[in-house]
Amino acid sequence: MSQAKDNPSPSGSTTGSGAPAASDRNSLTIGADGPIVLHDVHFLEQMAHFNREKVPERQPHAKGAGAFGVFETSEDVSAYTKAALFQKGARTDMLARFSTVAGESGSPDTWRDVRGFSLKFYTDEGNYDLVGNNTPVFFVRDPMKFPHFIRSQKRLPDSGLRDNHMQWDFWTSNPETAHQVTYLMGERGLPRTWRHMNGYGSHTYMWINSAGEKFWVKYHFHTEQGMAFFSNAEAAEKAGNDADFHRRDLFDAIARGEHPRWILSVQVMPYAEARDYHFNPFDLTKTWSHKDYPLIRVGTMTLDRNPENFFAQIEQAAFSPGNTVPGIGLSPDKMLLGRAFAYNDAQRNRIGTNFHQLPVNQPKVPVNSYLFDGQMAYHHSGNAPVYAANSGGRPWADQTGPVEDGWEADGELVRSAYTLHAQDDDFTQPGTLVRDVFNDAQRQALVDQVAGSLLGGVRSPVLERAFDYWKSIDPGVGQRIEDQVRAGSAPRPAEGMGEG
Ligand code: HEM
Repeated sequence: MSQAKDNPSPSGSTTGSGAPAASDRNSLTIGADGPIVLHDVHFLEQMAHFNREKVPERQPHAKGAGAFGVFETSEDVSAYTKAALFQKGARTDMLARFSTVAGESGSPDTWRDVRGFSLKFYTDEGNYDLVGNNTPVFFVRDPMKFPHFIRSQKRLPDSGLRDNHMQWDFWTSNPETAHQVTYLMGERGLPRTWRHMNGYGSHTYMWINSAGEKFWVKYHFHTEQGMAFFSNAEAAEKAGNDADFHRRDLFDAIARGEHPRWILSVQVMPYAEARDYHFNPFDLTKTWSHKDYPLIRVGTMTLDRNPENFFAQIEQAAFSPGNTVPGIGLSPDKMLLGRAFAYNDAQRNRIGTNFHQLPVNQPKVPVNSYLFDGQMAYHHSGNAPVYAANSGGRPWADQTGPVEDGWEADGELVRSAYTLHAQDDDFTQPGTLVRDVFNDAQRQALVDQVAGSLLGGVRSPVLERAFDYWKSIDPGVGQRIEDQVRAGSAPRPAEGMGEG
C-alpha cells in the first residue's frame, strides 16, 4: 500500500516497446482486492520475460567472471608472426574471463579445480580468442574423451552428488591424466585469487610471419602480482563464507584502481623440428623444455575496466579457440581441432544463433559474413546478394590451393592414438614435477591432498589403481599416499562423498 517517495524521476519506466509503463509496483486489478486482468500487458511482459531471463550456463566452466583491458606488444616478434596484434607498439582492447571447470554457476570459487583463462582480443583483423587454463597441460589428448572426462568430474546420475570415486575412476583409467592431476592436486589447484595465477594457451599453436614461414608456439602469461595459493583450510573457509571470493577480488581490485597485469611470453619451435622432437610436441599433456625453447617476451596484458553488466558482457561472452586471425593458426593437436568446433556450437545453443552480433562478441572491424538471418538477427546485409558467387557486387572469399596456416598430413583414415615419439610416455613429466619442481613441503601437501581425496569414498579396484598410478609417477610419493590411506582407511568415509 505505502509507496516509497524517492523515485528519481516522474517519467518512470517504459514497456519493452518504449511506451510509458503504468506501474512497476501495482498490477491492474478489479478493485483493490480483486483479480488481475489479462490485458495488464506490462505485468504480463514482466512475468514472461522473467521466465526467460537466464541462458543455459556454460557446460563446462559455468562459474566465472571477468574484466576488460588492453594488450600491449612491447617486443618485436615479427620474425615469428605477422598478426597485427603482436606487432611492436600495437595496443589491442581485450576481454578476459576466469572460471572454474566443474562447478555450476553458483558454486564456490575456491573449490579445488583447474581455472579457465579465456582471452578475447578485439584486433584490427577480427577477434582473436585464446581460451586456456592456469596450467600448461590438460587431462586428455583426444577430444572424444572430453565429455566423458567432464561428466566424471560433475555429479552422479542418481544422487546428484560430486563423487571422488567417479573422478579417480576416470583419471586412473586414463593414465595420460597424470600430469594435469599432479598440477591439480598441488598448489595450483587452489589459486589465492585470479590475479595471482598464471595463464597458458596450453595447446601448441602455429604462428606465420609475413614471409610465410611457420613456427609452433606455446603461450605463457605470467602474473606480475606473483603466484599465491590457498591452503585447503583457507579455501574451505572461503567456500563457506564467501562463495564468490575470486569474483569479488577481481572486481574490487579493478574498482580500487589496482589493475592486474600479466607478461606474455612464448616458446617458439621451428616448424620442421616438431616431426622428430623427442616427444610429440602436439600432445597437450606435455610441456616443452625451456632449455630447448626458452621464453621470448611479447608484451603485457592489463585488466583495467570492470563490466557494467555481468549478464550482457560476461555471461553472454562467447570465446572459441577456433577464432583465429591472419598470422595465427591451429596445430595438429587433436584436442585443439575438436575444440575448434565445440565452442561456437555451444554458444549457438547457449546464447542463440546470432551470438556473434552481441556487443561483447562483435568484432570492431566491418563484417561481411554470409551467415544469414536466424533468431535475433540484428546486423544485416540489406538487400545485397545472400549467396556467393554473385553478380551483385558483394565480395566473397575465394582461396584455393595450400593454406598459409596448414600442415602436411596423409595416410589412411584410422581411429588411433598419436604415433609415439622416442620419449613419449605418461609419467616422466609428472614425475619431474613432483621430484624436481615441488619442494618437500609441496610434496607433503600433495601426498596429504591425494590421500584425503582417496579417503573420500574411493573404492576398490579404483583405489588400488590410484596407488599404482601414483607409484608410476613417483614410487616414493605413491608409497606415502598408499601408507597414509591405509592408516586412515578404517572406517572409510561413506560412499559418494565428493570432495567438492
Ligand atoms: C576437446 C576438448 C574440449 C572441449 C570439447 C571443450 C568444450 C567446451 C565448451 C563447450 C565450453 C563452454 C563454452 C560456452 O558455452 O561458451 C568450454 C568452456 C571452456 N573451456 Fe573447454 N573444451 C575442451 C578442452 C579445453 C581445454 C584443453 C582448455 C584449456 C586449455 C579449455 C578451456 C576452457 C575454458 C577456459 C572455458 C570457459 C570459456 C569462457 O570463459 O567462456 N577447454 N569448453
